[in-house]
This record gives sequence, structure tokens and C-alpha cells, in this order.
Amino acid sequence: MSSNNSKTKIFVTRKIPQPGLDMLKEHYEVIVNPHNRVLSKDELLDGVRTADGLLCLLTDDITAEVMDINPNLKVISNYAVGYNNIDVEAATKRGIQVTNTPGVLTDTTADLAWALIMAVGRRVVEGDVFTREGRFEGWDPMLLLGTDITGKTLGIIGMGRIGQAVARRAMGFDMRILYHDMAPVPVAEEEYQAEFVALDELLRQSDFVTIHAPLTDETRHMIGRRELSVMKKMAYLVNTARGPLVDEEALVEALRDGIIAGAGLDVYENEPRLASGLAELPNTVILPHLGSATLETRTKMATMAAANLVAALEGKRPPHIVNPEVL
Ligand code: GLV
Ligand code: GLV
Repeated sequence: MSSNNSKTKIFVTRKIPQPGLDMLKEHYEVIVNPHNRVLSKDELLDGVRTADGLLCLLTDDITAEVMDINPNLKVISNYAVGYNNIDVEAATKRGIQVTNTPGVLTDTTADLAWALIMAVGRRVVEGDVFTREGRFEGWDPMLLLGTDITGKTLGIIGMGRIGQAVARRAMGFDMRILYHDMAPVPVAEEEYQAEFVALDELLRQSDFVTIHAPLTDETRHMIGRRELSVMKKMAYLVNTARGPLVDEEALVEALRDGIIAGAGLDVYENEPRLASGLAELPNTVILPHLGSATLETRTKMATMAAANLVAALEGKRPPHIVNPEVL
């Protein structure tokens, strides 16, 4: 007979769309962070202390210390495709499964990268503010001139699922596509006529540079002062991946000094803080990490994160496991 004590417990670090929570509640006792904010470290430790499964967000720092608070923790299900917030090596050492939510947010994130490309290139936000402020006094041949997107060169750093979805959209804009990754991606060359080049070559030639790489020790600050100086003066940088891929202080300097033309950013080095000076720059469009933020996609992420968690706890292979070596 199962008593309440022996019921499997799940800790969810923040309210996510209900269909995911409902899936978990069918099987388990589910505790959800009651606050509409990121938990403090102590609150996180308290929640994990008695949980068999953890459903967490990219804003939770899941360190070895968090794992060690509870020897019964079996699975960490991240509500994100990126999992740089989890010490995966530490989890693997402890036999804890780590899962993520790839695929379902690919198109949604690629759409947002495109929204930023178009918004910075065509000064959409500046124009909106200008109009709202009552400054529009009629058509003006020299008003808010931007740059063409059609026919330009797009540089994609990281040709994974999201990079490829960005490339697919670029074909509709007749763009030349360059990309850089750890190795050539043949499908991108066949389907999108994308050309594999060294990072500096991509930076030197591209009119728009968009980042779709994971954050790792190797990719941290892959775009710094030197890389920005290699870019064209008239080029734009777009980042919808992870903030620390870019040296944000160097980026603010480059934008201020006219080293590059502008930037469209959805992610920041020290979220939710912005580098000093960034918010004052007119040649940027800055969003609050909205890459996967549609109702449809966030709901799919919730059910996928729940399905990963249920599979792990039922002794089945989770559909999206990051460290399969623990199985
Ligand atoms: C969002 O940034 C994600 O990694 O899912
Ligand atoms: C993530 O989904 C990627 O591989 O780009």
C-alpha cells in the first residue's frame, strides 16, 4: 500500500503552463514555487531536499550543492533547450538524469531572431517610438533610413536546429548564407546553399551576424572586442542564444564607437542586468529573453519537460536526455 509518505514527489521551480503540471499531478505529488519570481538558493535547496524529480528553468543554477541536498534525486528536467544552468558533469557523476526541450522551440526562436534582424535593420522600434511621441510630421526622404535585408549576406554562428531554421527563412530574402560551427553541416549546404567558413571570415563578410550556439566553456565570449572589430562597420549583430557568448561590455563600446552599426539582443551576459550604457544606445533593439515565448511553444515545452520527467521516474528512457551515459 502506498502511503502519502512514499508518494513520488516533484518540485517545480516556477509556474509553467498548466498542461505540463497536470501531467505530473496525474502521477505524483507536485510542489510548485508559489511565488512569481526566481527562488533564492535556500528556497531551491528546500524544495529539492525531498524531491525525487526536479523541473527547473534556465534561471535556476543547478550546482553539485543542489544535487547533494538530496541523495534520492533521480532526474533534473530543464524547461529549456539550453542547459548551461545545470552542472551536467556533476549530475552524471551522481547518476542523475538531465533532460531538456529541444525541437519544439526551434521555429519560434528562429522567428524571433528574424524579428530582431528586421527590427534593427529597418529601425522598427525607433520608428515606433518616434511616431508615438508625435514627431511624425509627414513623409521625409531622409527619415530613419535603415539598411536592406534582401540580398545581403547572413552569417550564422551555430548551425544546429535553430541555425538551420534561421537559414531556411533567409532563403525567402535571397540572402547569401555563411555559417560557422565546430564542423561542416552538410544538410545546411545542400538545403540552404550555406557556406562553411572560419569565424573571422564570417565576421568579415556578413551584413547580419546571428548567434545560435550553445553556451559552453569553449564558446563563452566567442564574440569579444577583437571579433567585433573584424565585423563590417555597417553590420548588425543578433543574439537569441545565450548572453555570455558575447562580451557585452565590448559590444556596448563597439555600438557606441560605430565599430558596428547595431545589435538586436534577446539575451544578456548577466540577466536580468544589462551592461552599463546598453539601454541608452539607439542602435539596439533589446528584448527580455523572449526566444521561445509563445503560448503554443511554452505549452509544448511544459508537456515535453513533464514527459521527460515521467519517463525518467518510470525507469524508461526520457525522450530528450542530455547525459544518456547515466542510463
Ligand atoms: C531558452 O533560452 C532555452 O534555452 O530554451
Ligand atoms: C537547438 O535546438 C539547436 O540545436 O539549435
